[in-house]
Amino acid sequence: MNWYQAVFSPLLRRMDAEWSHEQTLAALSLAQRVWPGPQILRQIAGETPPDSVECFGLKFPNVLGVAAGFDKDVRAAQGLSMLGFGHVEVGTLTPRPQTGNPKPRIFRLPADGALINRMGFPNGGVATAVSRLRSLNKSNFILGVSLGKQKETPLADAVQDYAAVMQAVYPYADYLAINISSPNTPRLRELQGGDYLGHLLRVLQLENGALAEKHRIEKRPLLVKIAPDLTWPEMDEILTAVSDHHINGVIAANTTLSREGLTHPAKSEPGGLSGRPLRQRSNEIIVYIHRQTGGQLPIIGVGGVQTTDDVRAKLDAGASLVQLYTGLIYEGPGIAGRILRQLSANQVVS
Ligand SMILES: Cc1cc2nc3c(=O)[nH]c(=O)nc-3n(C[C@H](O)[C@H](O)[C@H](O)COP(=O)(O)O)c2cc1C
Repeated sequence: MNWYQAVFSPLLRRMDAEWSHEQTLAALSLAQRVWPGPQILRQIAGETPPDSVECFGLKFPNVLGVAAGFDKDVRAAQGLSMLGFGHVEVGTLTPRPQTGNPKPRIFRLPADGALINRMGFPNGGVATAVSRLRSLNKSNFILGVSLGKQKETPLADAVQDYAAVMQAVYPYADYLAINISSPNTPRLRELQGGDYLGHLLRVLQLENGALAEKHRIEKRPLLVKIAPDLTWPEMDEILTAVSDHHINGVIAANTTLSREGLTHPAKSEPGGLSGRPLRQRSNEIIVYIHRQTGGQLPIIGVGGVQTTDDVRAKLDAGASLVQLYTGLIYEGPGIAGRILRQLSANQVVS
């Protein structure tokens, strides 16, 4: 048990999960800007070995990143990089601000090492995010932006929302993640199949080319974030579309609707489940994609990462990079430094 788990975690757990998260973001946002905050954050991270990774044309300082949803509005990305994370995926952002679902909408299941959330993309809209993206110093981390659609936008028009967010963030994002897998925006996951997916990917890839030309910069890597609840034939359909439209990688996976093996009473709350119960399924999906694509498609592995061995399992399964969210809540802010040191030293630590 580390100092965070001994002291802070029990205190935070008495409070509403979203309120605790808000306090964490506020603290990080202050610490990343005001002396001696940056020094404290770097001290929490400790030594982080320089084990950089080349992936879809970008040089990541290390394999570990923060998954989308932790820093929806780009309030703490700099601070998260100071904690050792080599990349931060901000968002999911929508064109206009939206409040998301009624609270409470995040539930802790500590006995299961899990969270259930039904946030529904609350965010301040892309314009507010851009004002913060402009002032980021990205010299030592990679920034991904997760693109989403407004709750009320019909699926047939969804592509316009994704394109609008893409246009606004384009010069500031190192890569773009098309989020079509959140379970908390009604029908969003239908974009993963049928006629929707091909159309969406074709239009966004065209937009990618046009924006690169407009800004006179390299095309941004476009990734698709998928759900863990797909069947293998559905996954094959996605992989075909991904290949047809030259998508640069897949992020596997978002939260699950499954409730298998849970013990905590909050298990019946509606929403997406993250954390330890997702780990195995996420690994299976990574293995599957890696095999189906002959190891040619970069995969960002996410789901249930809390330890160094969890990261290693995802890399062994075929992931090039790994992200976490729930692990940061349960293990605390020292998680990135700890994992990266152990990975580098090749220690076996569970
Ligand atoms: C409270 C919460 C909010 C999330 N919001 C988003 C989001 O806005 N966009 C997204 O792509 N994923 C979102 N996710 C999913 C995570 O990015 C990640 O895919 C998932 O939690 C599995 O990783 P983990 O087990 O390490 O938490 C969210 C997860 C949680 C717990």
